Amino acid sequence: MGTPFAYFRGQFVPLSEAKISIMTHAFNYGTGVFEGIRGNWNEEEGEIYLFRMADHYQRLRRSCRIMMIHLPYSDEDLYAITTRLVELSGFQEDVYVRPMAYKSSEALGVRLHDLEDDFAIFVTPFGPYLDVERGARCCTSSWRRVEDTGIPARAKIIGIYVNSALAKTEANLKGFDEAIMLDERGHVSEGSGENLFMVADGKLYTPPPSDNILVGITRDTVIALAREELGIETVERPIDRTELYIADEVFLTGTAAHITPVIELDHRPIGTGKRGPITARLQGLYFQVIKGKHPKYRHWCTPCYSQVKR
Ligand SMILES: Cc1ncc(COP(=O)(O)O)c(C=O)c1O
Repeated sequence: MGTPFAYFRGQFVPLSEAKISIMTHAFNYGTGVFEGIRGNWNEEEGEIYLFRMADHYQRLRRSCRIMMIHLPYSDEDLYAITTRLVELSGFQEDVYVRPMAYKSSEALGVRLHDLEDDFAIFVTPFGPYLDVERGARCCTSSWRRVEDTGIPARAKIIGIYVNSALAKTEANLKGFDEAIMLDERGHVSEGSGENLFMVADGKLYTPPPSDNILVGITRDTVIALAREELGIETVERPIDRTELYIADEVFLTGTAAHITPVIELDHRPIGTGKRGPITARLQGLYFQVIKGKHPKYRHWCTPCYSQVKR
């Protein structure tokens, strides 16, 4: 049930009508930025909750600043358009919301300046991305994570995803579920679309933003839940590849991947080779939180069906 709608050129239209020209600058050069926001279906309440929408739009604004994209909407406008779009689409399942701000001029010439910008959003049903129960078998990618000196990974830039696509396809074609990328210094950076955590001696470790990660909102959620609910602090520090081989647990975090255990890396089992206890506890909490079922974190969840004026 449901029909996908888009917000395109200032209007709500059926997704099938939201089309751009093949001359669009962002299509030719990757000069756009985007977000991925999950809308989580809560069956009992008949509600879709957008998870940490305000934080996603804050990151979109930061990406826009780096890419010199003008976004002529207030935060309130963005929130209202997004909830209305989900409501219009009417899905009764998990959805993915994809806001995009991009260089929309139909013009040749690689640059960021002297171009028009536009903003669009689409919504589409979106189930599991990786197997959160069984976990993921991963390999270390032969592709290195892009550096801040080349393309800034802290911005969610459309063109940057070539780096992720190269790594993901290499991993999948070799028979793995996901790739883990190192940066140019050989530090563990992240998965093709996920941040990474390691559990060692009861503590959590994750690479710092300066190791060329996209600073994830799920990463921040996990750091908060671990501290607040499990009393476990997260240490942000550079991580070497072989530290992962001997870790007690490793997991990936992301809007698409939620919290996915890494059960194997480069043909070596991580810990017991099964989802570890800290990963399992964090998953239990996280799935409550994102569906609006944990009162303490309800402020992270925006309902689309019950609070929007019809
Ligand atoms: C490259 C990359 N790293 C990390 C993440 C995780 O970020 P978030 O938790 O905000 O979805 C994503 C997903 O957006 C990503 O594409």
